[in-house]
Order: sequence, then structure tokens, then C-alpha cells
Amino acid sequence: MVTRRAILWTGAGAVVLAGAGLASLLHSDLSKARAPWKAAGTGFGDKRLDALSYAVLAPNPHNMQPWLIRLDGEDALMLFCDSGRLLRSTDPQDRQIVIGLGAFLELLRLAAAEQGFALEVDAFPEGEPQPTLDGRPVAAVRFVADAGRKDPLFAHILTRRTSRVAFDQNRPVAAETLNALDQALRPEDGEFEWVNDASNVDALKTICREGWRIEMETAPTRHESAMLTRIGDDEINADPDGISLFGPVMEAARLIGMLTKEKMDEVGSPAYQATIDFYNGNIDTSMAFGWLSTAGNSRADQLRAGAGWVRLHLAATGLGLAMQPFSQALQEFPEMAEIYAEIHDFTGVETPRAPLAGRLQGLFRFGYAKPGPAAPRWPLETRLIAADA
Ligand SMILES: Cc1cc2nc3c(=O)[nH]c(=O)nc-3n(C[C@H](O)[C@H](O)[C@H](O)COP(=O)(O)O)c2cc1C
Repeated sequence: MVTRRAILWTGAGAVVLAGAGLASLLHSDLSKARAPWKAAGTGFGDKRLDALSYAVLAPNPHNMQPWLIRLDGEDALMLFCDSGRLLRSTDPQDRQIVIGLGAFLELLRLAAAEQGFALEVDAFPEGEPQPTLDGRPVAAVRFVADAGRKDPLFAHILTRRTSRVAFDQNRPVAAETLNALDQALRPEDGEFEWVNDASNVDALKTICREGWRIEMETAPTRHESAMLTRIGDDEINADPDGISLFGPVMEAARLIGMLTKEKMDEVGSPAYQATIDFYNGNIDTSMAFGWLSTAGNSRADQLRAGAGWVRLHLAATGLGLAMQPFSQALQEFPEMAEIYAEIHDFTGVETPRAPLAGRLQGLFRFGYAKPGPAAPRWPLETRLIAADA
């Protein structure tokens, strides 16, 4: 479908599209990048691999998929964070990366339970790395036979999507629906609160837009995201991580040279402006907001917040509700400090004064929209490391 937006994007350069370029524009094939969604639970010959094939589908910041797994003995595994997959500018304390690893562990737990196993998880068994992660393991996990602890949220792992389309402006999100999300949380996962009235939703839209503006105007954070963008099928299938831009509009813009990583990083370029406008469009169609906070901010708290995060998202999926995080205002780089304080004040979560004080771990918009396609993933086998690693 060529939309008005497509025409604006491509502009005069559209005329150069022909031949092979046109064919690749019309025929998108991301089946390789999405293969792990089909492979999940297909029988890997080991209970841990079977459960891990679901865990790699966890939500995680910038789709960095920072997990590395070492299988230990017959029943255990060690989870590590890949130090080459950290987001040093947007996530200087590695808080968001740890949240993603917490979501990974929760999907592992749900998938293990389906097979009749409980998990014994020892978080940061060699100590909590602060102020940033180091090479120490994130979690030591043991599978223990334990029938009868299945969790209904498992049913939504394969259909969960981070939604980046406009939400239906004629469908409000009811209080009962948002309260039902809260039911998915266990006390240790953190606290979920929400707003769905116009005045509070508008106030949060303003904060989110401001956070987004600052992230885009701050050179290191803009650069980090731009360089992690994969544009078009070939790049995405080759590197199924980062921020993926695909479909006819993106392919067309790429083919005429308007859409490149470098152009996205160039303030004032059409690619830069389109990036800003696209995300603001998402913010503007928010129908409700919710946020997840924790009383502390230790690494273990962040892992548990990740479990809460994915549980909220799975519950939303089960209710047919679309969800997208807006993390900009929560980020710890210095230029964001004012907005960071503002969002903590707005939500009533105490602005952290010490490293371990309470804090906001996630902010999400909710609404109704057609579910989008599955995000790219690296196959499980590429995330396994040898026993002597
Ligand atoms: C801690 C964290 C922060 C995130 N922040 C954002 C965000 O600010 N904006 C956004 O669109 N997606 C955000 N995401 C969603 C990821 O980009 C998404 O999980 C990833 O691209 C994989 O896609 P999927 O969730 O559809 O599987 C965040 C996810 C996590 C876990």
C-alpha cells in the first residue's frame, strides 16, 4: 500500500525506482528474521532448550537480545549478558538491559512450567554489578520437576507484539481492562498504576514528546539508535536485532538514498524529521497510560520489574489490548534529568535520591490496534555459549 506518507517520504526521487529496486519494494520477505517465532517449542531435544526457545522472544530494549546462555550439566543453565549488546548512551546504568533479561527469565519460567518444571533462580549469584554490568552472571537457573504450576499467560507468548501503529481513537480503554492487567502482577513484580482520562493522558503525552525530543536532540543517544537501525529486508535478515524499518515505504526511501543510518543521525534531514514525526504520531494516539514502579532499584529489583513488564504485556495481549513502552523520559543520561524528575513527580514515584531508592521502571501507552508482525530475533542456537566460556 502506498500511502500519502509514502509519497511525502519518497518525493521526487520516486521516479528512480525501477527494475530490481521495484521488485524488492513490492516483495518483502522477513521469514528468516522471524523464524525463531515459528521454531519456539518445536522440540529441541532438551527441556532447557525447549523453554529457551520461548525465552528468546522476550521484549528487550532496542531488540538487542543481550542474552547468552551456558547449559550446565543436565538440569541447569547460567544466563550472562553479552557486553557487546549494551546501550551505553540511552541506558547508561544498564537498567533497561536488565529489565529485558528479567523478561527473558519470566518467559523461561512460563515455558518450563508448561513442561512440568519449576525454576530455581539465583539472581546475580556472584554479586550485583554496579554501577554498570560486568562479566559476572545474571542468573543461575535450575530446572526442578514440579507438575501443576502452569500459568495461563504462557498462551500469549507467541502473539505478543510491541505495537508501533496508531491506536483507534474511537475505542477508549476501560478501567476494568486496566485493572485486569494489574491482576497479572505478583507483589514482587512491582506496582502498576494507570490513567485513562483525557487530562492525565494529555499530560503524559506532553512528557513523552518532550522525552523523545531530548533523546533525538542529544547527539550520543540519537547516534546510538540510528546506528542500531536495520533498513530493509536484507539488513534485517542479516542482523535480526536493533530497530527494524521495513515495508514498501522504507524500502523506497532506502533505494533512493533518503533513508540511511547516517541520514537518520543528521539533524534536520527528512529521515530525521520522519523519525520524530513517526514516534510523535504513536504518542499522540495513546488512549491510556500505565506505569510499573519498584520500591528499590537493585539489579534483582530490575530483573523482577522485567518479569512484571512481560506479564503486563502478555495479559494485555490476552485482552486484545495493544501496548508500547515509551522509555525516553525514564532514561538516566544527564540531558534527560529534568523530564526524568517530572515523570517521577507526575506518577508519585519518589525521585531517586540514592542508587537503591524506588523508581519508575516502565511507562506504556495502551489502546486498540491491529496486531503487527513479529519482531526479528536471533535463533536460539546463536545465543548459546560453550561450557568453558
Ligand atoms: C526496557 C525496555 C524498554 C523499551 N523501550 C521502548 C521504547 O521506548 N519504545 C518502543 O517503541 N519500544 C520499546 N521497547 C520495546 C522493544 O523495542 C521491543 O521489545 C523489541 O523491539 C522486540 O519487539 P517485541 O516486543 O515486539 O518482541 C522496550 C522494551 C524494553 C524491555
